[in-house]
Amino acid sequence: MTDVGQEKRQLGVLGLGHVGLPTALGFAELGFHVLGTDSDTAKVEMISKGQAPFFEPEMGELLVKHLASGRFRPTLSLDEAVRGSDILFICVGTPHDAEGAADLSQVESAVRTVAESLNGYKLIVEKSTAPVHTARWIHRTIQRYRASDQEFDIACNPEFLREGTAMHDVLHPDRVVVGVETERARAWLEEIYAPLYCPIVFTDLNTAEIIKHTANAFLSMKISFINMVSDLCEAANADVMDVARGIGLDPRIGPSFLQAGVGYGGFCFPKDLNAFIHVASERGVDFSLLKEVKNVNDARIDRFLRKAQQALWVLKDKRVAVWGLAFKPHTDDIREAPSLKIVKRLLEAGCLLNLYDPRAVPEFQRVFPADGERLRYWSSPEEAVEQAHAILLVTEWPEFAAVDWKRLRARVAVPIVIDGRNCLDPAVLAAAGFEYYGIGRPAPISHPRGS
Ligand code: UGA
Repeated sequence: MTDVGQEKRQLGVLGLGHVGLPTALGFAELGFHVLGTDSDTAKVEMISKGQAPFFEPEMGELLVKHLASGRFRPTLSLDEAVRGSDILFICVGTPHDAEGAADLSQVESAVRTVAESLNGYKLIVEKSTAPVHTARWIHRTIQRYRASDQEFDIACNPEFLREGTAMHDVLHPDRVVVGVETERARAWLEEIYAPLYCPIVFTDLNTAEIIKHTANAFLSMKISFINMVSDLCEAANADVMDVARGIGLDPRIGPSFLQAGVGYGGFCFPKDLNAFIHVASERGVDFSLLKEVKNVNDARIDRFLRKAQQALWVLKDKRVAVWGLAFKPHTDDIREAPSLKIVKRLLEAGCLLNLYDPRAVPEFQRVFPADGERLRYWSSPEEAVEQAHAILLVTEWPEFAAVDWKRLRARVAVPIVIDGRNCLDPAVLAAAGFEYYGIGRPAPISHPRGS
């Protein structure tokens, strides 16, 4: 990436999590000087030493690069980050509370400190995913708590990066959405995003906030929709993969997010769907469509486990290999991962579990510590299938499709694969002697002897 000009704005990023850290490093890569801060001292100290606090492809390398270039500087002092920056990106967490509404306490706390540290005009940008009218509250909070009459503007610039491809998404977005109230805020954000050469949708604050929730809700809806179609395909002996291709080539529908499986997880879709339903209901809109999206997703785990039970008959004392624990490939994040519920339910049913994931084992072990024969972790997919009565594929890491199935056949006790992501080739598995069950795919092609 080239430097974009000599008089660049100084940027501050408050919150160095899955959105904040890739954002900070992306701006550093674009040539900006970025101060980053987080209330988690241990995290800031790790980052300062060049250690990424979570796995994200390319991020570790960019962290080392920009600590060395001096363009990214982590600090424990929020006050320093505010004073040293022209534009402040609020990237703190917005988890949901017991009612499903967004818990905005981290946003409020960050914004109050910003207010107390104002030392000149600042553009304060809400990047965290937050309900409509949060920007308005940020504005009001700064007015209430600011120590002096310093000028400021608020903008809403939601982030659309995906975990697992975060650095790519930050540096090559398909669009940038910017909600603003003033010309100055618009001009500043236009300037910093100019090097990305992508469409910028300028709008007002409320609309920008609604765009973010709508995007995540719509994508969740696509997933639940195709998952329902997959149930129908199973009942009708049709193939949901071909259905997805058959409809996805229509540009009005599009091919992405039509992958049927065990359902969506992660820190964003489940939480944002709840928050959006809540936002709507608070304003008298019953978004029943989204409630059903959530119900369909919740039912995926039952359906997957029923498939396992139908294939294995009795689950108790069966050794089962679980491949994939992260909520999606290329991340070590297990928040709201389908694997959490699947492993819990298999243990309750008395299965003996062999678990494997290329990245997420340390995180998963915190929730499910190894427990003798009941629960073991392995360091390769091949080791994990030793004497297994079934392989349950839960996350579609590319390495699973590349294993040597003929060799695996010799290691398992019973050759059964239940592919919760439809990422394996049933013909290859059948040729290797496996009984294959996908999601919404025609009934198994082979029932080898001994199974
Ligand atoms: C999602 C959005 O895709 C990002 O645009 C957004 O910025 C982000 O949430 C956020 O709000 O921070 P992310 O949760 O990282 O990103 O990952 P996705 O690739 O969207 O996957 C979400 C879940 O849906 C995963 O569990 C994935 O396995 C599942 N999924 C995805 C399916 O089950 N089927 C599909 O066809 C696609």
